[in-house]
Amino acid sequence: MTQEIWTGVDEYLGDVLVRSDPALDSARAASKAAGLPEIAVAPNQGKLLNLLARLSGARSILEIGTLGGYSTIWLARALPEGGRLLSLEADPKHADVARANIKAAGLADVVEVRLGAALDTLPDVEGPFDLIFVDADKPNVPHYFEAALKLSRPGTLIIIDNVIRRGAVADPSSTDPAIVGIRRMHELIAAEPRVDATALQTVGAKGHDGLTFALVVA
Ligand code: SAH
Ligand code: DHB
Ligand code: MG
Repeated sequence: MTQEIWTGVDEYLGDVLVRSDPALDSARAASKAAGLPEIAVAPNQGKLLNLLARLSGARSILEIGTLGGYSTIWLARALPEGGRLLSLEADPKHADVARANIKAAGLADVVEVRLGAALDTLPDVEGPFDLIFVDADKPNVPHYFEAALKLSRPGTLIIIDNVIRRGAVADPSSTDPAIVGIRRMHELIAAEPRVDATALQTVGAKGHDGLTFALVVA
């Protein structure tokens, strides 16, 4: 019942506020048709990423975890002329589907999808980036946060997806590697004088989850 309400409200918000974009709709549909897991950000969350990228005037964006390129397209649409987006993806099938979706969205010249486990590809990535979206395997988020910080400059916004996991994040005794990773990341953020951060729990079509926002200040 509760999930039905959350999904209904997400549908309402998507319909009334998130202008439909054929390329984004097709990217979602093509990802599903290809059998990819249906875990892309919701349309209203994609729009939030787009608004934050525009608000921060981002010209260079790094994404960790491409899936079918849905969040990628939302973020890349926010870039000004000459902007670039690099997205790291470990699964070759996901990367193929994403590249096709990105090409169909007219963003092939703006976006590079780089194949490989992010911990292997990150050392060769050249920053700094203005916005970094972390949305890959959750146990590694402490490492992704540290890599993101290295690829930042003062003013960079680092956004981490799926940080609440139905509330499990608040359990200090959890042994779930995803929860352990997310809690560790929050501790790193809290101890890091270079960032100011907050997090929001969300409900919606994707259940009860949330996002952490860290602004690099030095
Ligand atoms: N950002 C996407 C959703 C990403 S889902 C969107 O909202 O549209 C998480 C993605 O991270 C999956 O495609 C998965 O294959 C990828 N992934 C998992 N482990 C990874 C790793 N070690 N390095 C890079 N990508 C990884
Ligand atoms: C999962 C991963 C995601 O990036 C997401 O947004 C939702 C769920 C998962 O691995 O379960
Ligand atoms: Mg996610």
